[in-house]
Amino acid sequence: MRTTTGNPPPRTRTPLPAFTGRLHDPRTATAIGRWLGGALLVCFVTGLASHFLQHPPGRLFGRFPTRPVWGYRLTQGLHVAAGLAAIPLLLAKLWTVYPRLFAWPPVRSVPHALERLAVAVLVAGAMLEVFSGLLNIVQWYPWPFSFVPVHYAVAYVLAGALLLHLAAKAPQIAAHWTRRSAGTRALPDEERDGPDRRALLAGLGVAVGAVTVTTAGQTFTPLAPLDLLAPRHPGHGPQRLPVNKTAAAAGVTAADMTDWHLDVTGGATALRLALHELAAFPQSAARLPIACVEGWSVNAHWEGVRLRDLLHRAGAPPGSAVRVVSLQRHGAYRVMDMGPEYAWDPLTLLALRLNGAPLAPDHGYPARIIAPNRPGVLQTKWVARMEIR
Ligand code: HEM
Repeated sequence: MRTTTGNPPPRTRTPLPAFTGRLHDPRTATAIGRWLGGALLVCFVTGLASHFLQHPPGRLFGRFPTRPVWGYRLTQGLHVAAGLAAIPLLLAKLWTVYPRLFAWPPVRSVPHALERLAVAVLVAGAMLEVFSGLLNIVQWYPWPFSFVPVHYAVAYVLAGALLLHLAAKAPQIAAHWTRRSAGTRALPDEERDGPDRRALLAGLGVAVGAVTVTTAGQTFTPLAPLDLLAPRHPGHGPQRLPVNKTAAAAGVTAADMTDWHLDVTGGATALRLALHELAAFPQSAARLPIACVEGWSVNAHWEGVRLRDLLHRAGAPPGSAVRVVSLQRHGAYRVMDMGPEYAWDPLTLLALRLNGAPLAPDHGYPARIIAPNRPGVLQTKWVARMEIR
């Protein structure tokens, strides 16, 4: 195009969108950030608890508390509930701050460039963490990597990037932490927190509440009737207990279960017990939850042989640990190490019955471990061998 003088028009930047409302300002970013930060903190702390229970570093092995029996049920239920609540919070937070994408110039200095780089890592990490967690609880793994190590590593990256972000934004966060703290200038009420912001925050509160109420029933049984969106319902499954891995998926066949016997090795007396011999041991009962890493949990009535009675019979030295090996053909949890605090706990059973009937094949027939305050993946099913260590 030419001007009337025949000269080309001066080069200008494409006009950027202008955002003037209160929904994209630092006060809204701070208000949503507070909730999001709280949800992420709960996820981080409970996620670490779950990680260390499953993969105890040497010095923690044998030192976990076995009470309260519902400890893991609570922490993992909170982990998944806070992670799900973080999804609407994260989307709202990103929507609030997205106009900053158009800030001009995009980079003002080297520290500013580093800060924006940290924000890019923060956003990518937060999205990867919450959405991979979501897909994991619906057991859909559309990625080529292994979920657990990536989720664990990204948690640290996210925590570091979030700390940097909080440090960089500290002055703004302090200035906008509460409605009253928004600067020293005395603002009239309607300017301090306009109705549009209140409506956004109220709507977000309703969204978070709705997500929580329709999913928390998978672990918090009083809300079970409202458990509409969670992938699991606590009462659905054989013997009123959900199943994560079926016998077929674990490669355990009917023949494996029929020819079954239990080997207990490593003590003064090696034991090889058929099912009827185990059933002749003194039987104990315990009411303990199965608490899945994926956030669902349910209490059940278990009957079987106290593990410590078996260990005594096998001549295990007091305080020894046990390695439990399953009939299942493959999978990360085919072999499980149990510290002495669980192995010798009076509530830990080699369970033969569940809710008044022999274990269903998908619940680990003929025998499975049930112990207090343990992740479900460590409650080994189809137990074939125990090695005293
Ligand atoms: C995973 C968590 C979070 C993510 C993904 C996130 C993301 C972002 C992004 C992308 C920006 C724009 C940055 C820029 O372009 O300069 C931003 C700005 C901001 N964030 Fe966060 N943030 C998170 C947590 C928090 C928390 C916990 C708080 C405070 C409690 C917070 C307070 C702020 C503030 C005050 C701003 C500046 C807003 C403005 O100047 O308009 N953020 N955040």
